[in-house]
Amino acid sequence: MSAQELEAIARKLIAPARGILAADESTGTIERRFKSINVPNTEASRQAYRDMLFTTPGFGEYISGVILFDETIRQKSLKGVPFTEVLTRSNSIPGIKVDAGAKPLPFAPDEMTTEGLDGLPGRVKEYRDMGARFAKWRAVVTIGPGIPTRYCIETNAHALARYAAICVEGGLVPIVEPEVLMDADNTIETCFDVTEWTLKSVFNALYEQRVPLEQILLKPNMVVSGKKCPVQAGVRQVAEMTLKCLRRCVPPAVPGVVFLSGGQSDEDATAHLNAMNQIGGNPWELSFSYGRALQAPSMKKWAGQAANVAAAQKIFHHRAKCNGAARSGKYSDAMERELAA
Ligand code: 13P
Repeated sequence: MSAQELEAIARKLIAPARGILAADESTGTIERRFKSINVPNTEASRQAYRDMLFTTPGFGEYISGVILFDETIRQKSLKGVPFTEVLTRSNSIPGIKVDAGAKPLPFAPDEMTTEGLDGLPGRVKEYRDMGARFAKWRAVVTIGPGIPTRYCIETNAHALARYAAICVEGGLVPIVEPEVLMDADNTIETCFDVTEWTLKSVFNALYEQRVPLEQILLKPNMVVSGKKCPVQAGVRQVAEMTLKCLRRCVPPAVPGVVFLSGGQSDEDATAHLNAMNQIGGNPWELSFSYGRALQAPSMKKWAGQAANVAAAQKIFHHRAKCNGAARSGKYSDAMERELAA
């Protein structure tokens, strides 16, 4: 893959009015999601669920690419068409999660590091041959008493850069995802400081490992109040502080920033992206790569029942449309209520 080809894929993923669906839940993570809707976690139920999402009429209107899990990239739709082909037929690019998950970081209580570098060049080649054109690796940084430590931040930044370099060399656009978790009781200011520190460290590691920034996408958390913080920042403050943080840390050579939702409600995630695009004046495209914030309402409606597929797909399409509008600051309350009407 030439540099131009990888840049073109990155650009297509962040094309106007569209964004990325993260549907790469590992078997353990989807188990937790399915438990909440009382659906047994089997290969068949996972296939039926992803089939519901990916065969949504008009899927590609607002979804430029989908991050798949290893099992899913090898699966077919209920009609027997490989999922990769289902996606490309709707003008959506297949991507793949290549990390092996966050595991405890030795000698660092409550901190994590992401595994999956061993054998990665071989897996990148295999996934490319299966049709994937981009990849994802998620590192997590936890806020708490005395953490994060420099050890945690630098270990994760180093692994993210190793992954990114291997992907670019192997012909996949790497989505670089350092996630500062939002589960604690910290203020938005603490989230700002930790996110700034993390991003500075990640871009330093990318530089040291010679990763061409034009060929990657950044997938950061937004700067938000911790979920257990008694004072919750509003939409405008989240948008302003997130942009301030990104402007300090993310070189304009990076074509796009595709946010994770990280446990925000679906409507909050849309409103925050919308507000950032209304402020505008950014050197990168600001888009979405949401998992929960795109899927949650449609998964609930689906509830494992074939009879609910059409209704669940309508809800998914509406969520994608709202986020597509947020790409240009055109999301509104009226649009949010359209479906109910
Ligand atoms: P959420 O939007 O649910 O955070 O998922 C995005 C993702 O890909 C996490 O790695």
